[in-house]
Amino acid sequence: MQLKSNVSPTSQEYRSNFQFHQELCSSLQDLLVTTARGGGEKAAASQRKRGKLLARERIEKLIDPETSFLELSQLAGYQLYDDFVPAGGIVTGIGQVHGRPCMIVANDQTVKGGTYYPITVKKHLRAQEIARKNKLPCLYLVDSGGAYLPLQAEVFPDRDDFGKIFYMQAQMSAESIPQISSVHGFCTAGGAYIPAMSDQSVIVKNTGTIFLAGPPLVKAATGEEVTAEELGGAAVHTSISGVSDHLAENDEHALYILRQIIEHLGPQKHQALKLKKPTEPAYDPSELLGILPTELSKFVDIREIIARIVDSSEFFEFKKNYATTLVTGFAHLGGIPFGIIGNNGVLFSESALKATHFIELCCQEGTPLLFLQNITGFMVGKQYEHDGIAKHGAKLVHAVANAAVPKLTLVVGGSFGAGNYGMCGRAYDPNFMYMWPNARISVMGGPQAADVLVTVKQQQLARDGKSLSLEEVESMRAPIMQKYEKEGHAFYSSARLWDDGVLDPRQTRDYLWQSLAATLHHEWDQSRFGIFRM
Ligand code: COA
Repeated sequence: MQLKSNVSPTSQEYRSNFQFHQELCSSLQDLLVTTARGGGEKAAASQRKRGKLLARERIEKLIDPETSFLELSQLAGYQLYDDFVPAGGIVTGIGQVHGRPCMIVANDQTVKGGTYYPITVKKHLRAQEIARKNKLPCLYLVDSGGAYLPLQAEVFPDRDDFGKIFYMQAQMSAESIPQISSVHGFCTAGGAYIPAMSDQSVIVKNTGTIFLAGPPLVKAATGEEVTAEELGGAAVHTSISGVSDHLAENDEHALYILRQIIEHLGPQKHQALKLKKPTEPAYDPSELLGILPTELSKFVDIREIIARIVDSSEFFEFKKNYATTLVTGFAHLGGIPFGIIGNNGVLFSESALKATHFIELCCQEGTPLLFLQNITGFMVGKQYEHDGIAKHGAKLVHAVANAAVPKLTLVVGGSFGAGNYGMCGRAYDPNFMYMWPNARISVMGGPQAADVLVTVKQQQLARDGKSLSLEEVESMRAPIMQKYEKEGHAFYSSARLWDDGVLDPRQTRDYLWQSLAATLHHEWDQSRFGIFRM
């Protein structure tokens, strides 16, 4: 059934909402433009002088003409270090090569020689995690000086540090997920293992080198004097050592060879789905900016958002009149069927049961799930505890955790407390997770956190017969609220890779469609649930 909107685009409220969200989107856009410039003009010019392409230019030439690149985590590293580390120094995302979606991981050699800051490692690993979950071939465009040495303690030794990149390559290779690399610049030490661990690798003449130690270190260690080209250049590795398989004349040629490699891969499997002809929503997606309130505390009917995301604004609602603070139902996006679970208020026991039932249905039928998060959390209070809200919430968390169909999460408003878990937050392994610029994420809201901490302090003081004055309460509350405001921001989240990117709401359909499409190229596992506490 087609959703009917109750929004009036001529109302004052709509207009002020629109202006507010348009400004937010402009600040996002400005940030993305700055990020896409990488390490700046000087570093770019120095690369071009050597006949090299830049990371984003390589990707553009690698993917099929007239297809778009689904770039992930563009805000990684934003205001994270004293240095400017645009996009975390690495470009990752999904692009089509000979019609096959591939995970592309390209070092940005203009950002400190493409070296790995802790966030670079995290972003590289997240890209590999997405590739593994969706069984996408990985294409590594390598141009990196390896670990960012001043931060080696945060890059090298731990479980999810640099070494995990090669572990993931080995694991994916064993799972028949192709691992392919092309070497465009110096690959030293750890960096040398990316091509060495690949199933197939390409190396570019004159600019690409692979060695465990560069010429200065070799001289210091053994006294041997050798040029970089003689030590580990393209000719050495394609004709003497066998570390690389294909010799490329230049960057363009290397990208052409990568395309050839993908073209000659075996057939890929597909998940069986009943696809429909794609259609546009009946309502203009740009109206989302006028619909979203300026404050998270104001109610927005999630159906107004759904109507501007799904094909023809058609939504077949499930249990419409039951547990109405949670909306569940079926729709299509770009012709792909999927189920939606969206918040329309706080979560009650019945909402958790309704969502659990809906997740079971989707898993039974092999229908992917989209979680639209705008959630303050589960209802609190004596009546609800007595009704067993904890055990009903736990059923939902079980179902979300074990649903083996693809899961996408989009935070359209708040993402607080256990609501984040029940609605498939980052820890529940959604295939992709995005935020809108107005979204906020934290364990609870700033005012609530301030109240809790003030209450705890008051109780402590009361034991000694003391109490806080009004001024002391205020001076305790203010910094806590400021901290929560800062740390709950969507940009703060994305800088740390708590999500896969912040989206302009108007681009949501595009992102969700490309993300859903990336999940279809293998057969999904059967879901198996654990014990639901009754
Ligand atoms: N850690 C920290 N910073 C590094 C670095 C590293 N491993 N490698 C390079 N940088 C920095 C440089 O200091 C320079 O910083 P600046 O712009 O603030 O001056 C910037 O990255 C660019 O380096 P530069 O040498 O000018 O660029 P390039 O394109 O000519 O060469 C490399 C890039 C990576 C090939 C070269 O710098 C190099 O060989 N680095 C050492 C690699 C290494 O031995 N790594 C060991 C890893 S375990």
